Amino acid sequence: MTGPALDSRLKRLGILLSGRGSNFLAIAEAVSSGILAGIAEIAVVVSNNPESAGLSRAREMGLPTALFPSKGRKRAEHDADVAASLLAHRVDLVVLAGYMRLLSAEFVAAFPERILNIHPSLLPAFPGLEAQTQAFDYGVKTAGCTVHFVDEHLDHGVIVLQRSVPVLETDDAHSLAVRILAEEHKAYPEAIRRVLSGGYRIAGRRFLRISAEVGGELSSSRSQEIF
Ligand code: GRF
Repeated sequence: MTGPALDSRLKRLGILLSGRGSNFLAIAEAVSSGILAGIAEIAVVVSNNPESAGLSRAREMGLPTALFPSKGRKRAEHDADVAASLLAHRVDLVVLAGYMRLLSAEFVAAFPERILNIHPSLLPAFPGLEAQTQAFDYGVKTAGCTVHFVDEHLDHGVIVLQRSVPVLETDDAHSLAVRILAEEHKAYPEAIRRVLSGGYRIAGRRFLRISAEVGGELSSSRSQEIF
């Protein structure tokens, strides 16, 4: 399986979020003046939570937004609304950025290998909620984050990119989470770039880069990246 063909059109991102939206902001910055400039644009920011700070920021930034409150709704119906909105905005890649909802199988099937998620652990360790605290309490010496394709299982799809951070003796779960988040903000734009480049193939569970493209602004800090 290979990625999408290279073309010069800006690729359209559909961002799904539920909360503060710091990963969305990192991606937006990469789109406007970083490693995604000239490669991608944000087609729409969708939230299931009317209170989400990320949604407010997107509105302030003048981006197209859509709100589909999920509370009290059947998953399939809610997901169908979200999918319709993403299709109406001609989204090429769906980017989950703190989207606190499990996706229905129908939704995943509607965007085959076109949904990315970021998780604040080195998967397959510590899937699920509060991954940073899980890792800290377990006593790991290295923690990090994972960008992966979304499949029908929780925090499970093919891994695109991981970045690691050491766990310091002076850390608590909060300080560790803060340092992992800083790595997330580098990892997500880079992973999006690699996927949008089309320069990859998937062999089993392995995401293999087949282009000569190297990581631009990230090249100086590559020692923290796990290949
Ligand atoms: C991040 O830690 C991300 O890894 C997880 O949810 C959190 C979202 O944070 N999936 P933010 O809303 O992007 O600041």
